[in-house]
Amino acid sequence: MENNTLCNRQYIDAALLKPSKYVSTDIDNEFYELLRENIRQNKVLKPVIATKGLVIRDGYARTKVCKELGIPVPIEYCEDACDADEEYLRLSHNLTKPMKHFERYRAYQAIRTRFKVTKGTRTDLTDNVAEYKTMIDTLGGNGKYFSRLNYIEKTAPLVFGNDEKKIAAYKKKIDDGELKISGAEKYLKEKVKQIENKKAIPENVEVITDWVKLFQKDSRLMTVEETGLVDAIVTSPHYGFGRIDYDNAAERVGQERDVDSFTEAMKPFFQASWNVLKPDGSLWVVIGDCVREGEYQNAPENFLLMMLAMGWIINDKIIWQKIDPQPTSPFNRTICSYEYIYHFTKNKDFVYNRDWLDEIPDETITTYNHTETAYPLKSLAGKVKNSLITTHKSSTAGIRKKCEERGFFCTHNATYPIDIPLYCILASTRPGDTVLDICTGTSVTGEAAVQIGRKYIGYDTNNQYIEVSKVRLEKYLNN
Ligand SMILES: C[S@@+](CC[C@H](N)C(=O)[O-])C[C@H]1O[C@@H](n2cnc3c(N)ncnc32)[C@H](O)[C@@H]1O
Repeated sequence: MENNTLCNRQYIDAALLKPSKYVSTDIDNEFYELLRENIRQNKVLKPVIATKGLVIRDGYARTKVCKELGIPVPIEYCEDACDADEEYLRLSHNLTKPMKHFERYRAYQAIRTRFKVTKGTRTDLTDNVAEYKTMIDTLGGNGKYFSRLNYIEKTAPLVFGNDEKKIAAYKKKIDDGELKISGAEKYLKEKVKQIENKKAIPENVEVITDWVKLFQKDSRLMTVEETGLVDAIVTSPHYGFGRIDYDNAAERVGQERDVDSFTEAMKPFFQASWNVLKPDGSLWVVIGDCVREGEYQNAPENFLLMMLAMGWIINDKIIWQKIDPQPTSPFNRTICSYEYIYHFTKNKDFVYNRDWLDEIPDETITTYNHTETAYPLKSLAGKVKNSLITTHKSSTAGIRKKCEERGFFCTHNATYPIDIPLYCILASTRPGDTVLDICTGTSVTGEAAVQIGRKYIGYDTNNQYIEVSKVRLEKYLNN
């Protein structure tokens, strides 16, 4: 193919020209009005570039205005090109224009196709390396940027079931800056894992043993017949106002968009909890807040008031302080580094083990922070000071690795460190008692309970999380 040759400027009827499929026909209204006004006032018009076959390669908006005003359009012809070269040629006229992410990605691909550059190609050996490099440099963006866009481009159809509208809407959010490229890539990677898991994990994976029961079921529907009366409930519900997608297709709890709907959605969970908890038992709820549309939602405070209205007694309010909290943006407030641990009871007379620390034999060890490394359980004392528990944030690296060794992925991130349920269970139960988590997720509560000789019951609607829980608790399932 020859280089772009421009010759024979002429004026032709705008109606004869048609856009190439690579030309964007999406025109900003304000820009269009300005352009129209300029052309109407006879300002000198930059020629439209079109092939001899009258396909517009650059200047769609100008052509549209001329057509609308009924005036001829100045045109410069360039050579006709095959499809593969068409976008490249159009780009050579437009490379310095501001581009949105996916437009730039298409430009990048077109340049690579034109210069026959594929993954691993030595660009320094191509005939026209200087031209290739100039094009890429003018385009801007580094390798990581384009490889992320490439991942999104290739994976979105898989995740959105080839639904063109959904794919376009998702890409538009990225183009408009509503979604970060890195965040979108991360989200799609998790979704791909969930899709893979659907093939690898049976639909029902519930497991019931004497010591551990993992129900794959909506915990709002749990009954005393199923659980017996339990001694303590330790749980962390799914707040987040749409930030967290737990893939619970049927139930979809955790997707509430505002705090009132959230507290309303929580009521049946804590009514069911009331029904299965012993009169002298304890309910521990770990709950943090989140910022939406520039303000805190006050989820813990609203939740607490809802619980009091249901008849629960608030016995203790503990702050779980995270040593290494997730940085948050925008940076016009402090980074939130804590969540609440609410201790509720049904009565003022309840089981409370104030000497929980003294009762732990010195030699008792546990595995903190999801690694196999053992620590003396007494070291928990260093983390609990008055109404403050200070820990690192939790890590799912260990459990993720174990799951992958067993042929599936752990796609759950929202776990708490084991110190939290350990403390709650030690302070409110005795050995042999039963602990329940109504939102078991990957069963960190379960791991804490069984390690110190308590029975465990967990509920989750998601088979993938129950499967992860089974890996976490496998040593205790074979009785
Ligand atoms: C914040 S996570 C709990 C994490 C858990 N503490 C752990 O250690 O992994 C909330 C969990 O609630 C589950 N969930 C959502 N709706 C549920 C329902 N109706 N019944 C039971 N579990 C539910 C979600 O699938 C999710 O795993």
